[in-house]
Amino acid sequence: MNIQLEQPKDYREVENLTREAFWNVYRPGCTEHYVLNQYRNNPDFIPELDLVMEEEGRIIGHVMFSKAEIILDDGSHFPSWTFGPISIAPEYKRKGYGLRLLNYALEKAKKMGIGLISMEGNIEFYKHAGFDLASKMKIHYHAEPRESEVPYFLAQELIPGYWGNREGTYCPPKGYFVADENPEAFEKYEATFPKKEKLHLPGQLSIGA
Ligand SMILES: CC(C)(COP(=O)(O)OP(=O)(O)OC[C@H]1O[C@@H](n2cnc3c(N)ncnc32)[C@H](O)[C@@H]1OP(=O)(O)O)[C@@H](O)C(=O)NCCC(=O)NCCS
Repeated sequence: MNIQLEQPKDYREVENLTREAFWNVYRPGCTEHYVLNQYRNNPDFIPELDLVMEEEGRIIGHVMFSKAEIILDDGSHFPSWTFGPISIAPEYKRKGYGLRLLNYALEKAKKMGIGLISMEGNIEFYKHAGFDLASKMKIHYHAEPRESEVPYFLAQELIPGYWGNREGTYCPPKGYFVADENPEAFEKYEATFPKKEKLHLPGQLSIGA
């Protein structure tokens, strides 16, 4: 197993991997491969943390990171970061690869001076990489009541003291909504992949890995 930077020659394979990993997991079908396809040109994209994991001569994992920000209660913008999509090929899930890829990426992020990460995900997976409920750090989620403990909104200070005692609200960067903003462009892109059946499955609406 090795982890390296994604290369342009990997783009299509990695988008297909993302599609395979997310298909029917959170909704019938998925859009995460399109987010990745569009994000590589986004100024918030971090090429140094665009990582692929290879095993047995093929790419079985990928993760990308983005700049983000938190609006502090005094109205100022505080720099933070987020990541995702993170994908492991279906036949390699639950064998420890996702955690290894994520821990590698977080270590590299920390060395790059990335102090705080907020993201949406299943705590049952992300707790193993040091994440906890963001509400415990007084980081609120834009789409939920301020007082609520949002079970799928997580955070981690990579550099101790970076966040301190601040309080503020996080909204995912605009780049993550690209498929909703331009459904026709997404459908055109999706049609370039082999057809897959979209299924309604139990549990899809919950944020879970
Ligand atoms: C989420 C994902 C990246 C995790 O990678 P993975 O290689 O499957 O996970 P790991 O084997 O490293 O998991 C480590 C531990 O995390 C926990 N965990 C992982 N997936 C979990 C799940 N779906 N539900 C509950 N706990 C989970 C388990 O404790 C696991 O250890 P165990 O298998 O010994 O119990 C991968 O499953 C994936 O690509 N899922 C589809 C896409 C996705 O949901 N991405 C994340 C969006 S937030």
